[in-house]
Order: sequence, then structure tokens, then C-alpha cells
Amino acid sequence: MADGDLHHESFQQADELQSLRTQLSQFASQPSDAAAGLPGRHYVDEELFEHEKRTVLRHGWHCVGRADEISDAGDYLTAQILDEPIIVVRDGPEIRALSNVCRHRGMPLVQGNGHARLFVCPYHAWSYRTNGQLQRARASSLKSESMGFPRGRFCDSPYVEVDHGQIAITGYSGTCRRFG
Ligand code: FES
Repeated sequence: MADGDLHHESFQQADELQSLRTQLSQFASQPSDAAAGLPGRHYVDEELFEHEKRTVLRHGWHCVGRADEISDAGDYLTAQILDEPIIVVRDGPEIRALSNVCRHRGMPLVQGNGHARLFVCPYHAWSYRTNGQLQRARASSLKSESMGFPRGRFCDSPYVEVDHGQIAITGYSGTCRRFG
């Protein structure tokens, strides 16, 4: 995309955003006996939804379950936050949220709830520890660190908070890197 297109697009987005703000403040300033719902477009428009995801929802907290659902080390549950599949796992005393996307070719690692010592990808058997680190890259000649393969987390991890037994996550960037 050329620079000119980018500028045009950002001006267009700024215009749309301003128009949206104006509309919303008009709705908010209505007296309570004249309250009205937002126009139907706000509930079905894909562009508005993308905008909401980018500016609000991705930065908000999302409740994914109760801590007592994963009380033992290795217990996990899965969830979908916006477009991102997530594993929430008890890693020792910690509760972590990890991407449920194999960093090799992007397969989901697990489904539903369960218990695992390692997450083993069903496709080529790469395995990950419950702290998100790559344990082993099987079915290829890669030998992790010995091949210069990074052993870091397989995705940027969201932040996790447990409040009154509820697990909430935020800060998911959705930036998984795949290899191969
Ligand atoms: S896609 Fe997971 S190991 Fe290949």
C-alpha cells in the first residue's frame, strides 16, 4: 500500500471515529425518558466490531473461568478470546494463559478441558511445557537450542489475574510466530 493510501485511510478512519463519537454523545445526552438504542448497524457492522476489538476489547479483562476448575498442576481449560484461542493452565502454583496455537504450523494444541504434563501438538508432535516453553521440536531435524532454535514462549502471553476465584486475562497481542 502506498503512503498516500495509508494517509487517506487514516484520515477516513479519523472521520469515521469522529462521526461515531458525535453519534454516541448525542445518544448519551438524551433524557432518560427519551433513551433509544444505538442504530442497528452498531451491532452488525464488521468494521465497527474490528475497531472495538482494536481499541477496547483487546485491552479489556475477559473472564475465562474459575480457578477451582484447574486446581491441580497441569489442569487446563481452553477459551476463545476474540479471535484468539487460549489455554489457561495451572503451572505449579501459577495460573498462566498461553496461545493455543502451535508455533510450527499453527495447529490448535488442545481442546476443551483436561490435564497435561506437556502440550503435544497432534500434527508433528512438537511439545510445550505448561509454562509455554518449547520442550521439543520432533518430526523435523530441529533440535531446539542446538539448532539455534529459540526455546522462548511460543506466543506473547496475556496477563492473568485471579480475583475472588475468577480467572481474568488481558493484554493479548495475538502475535504468534510460526516457523517452517
Ligand atoms: S503444527 Fe504443531 S508440530 Fe507441526
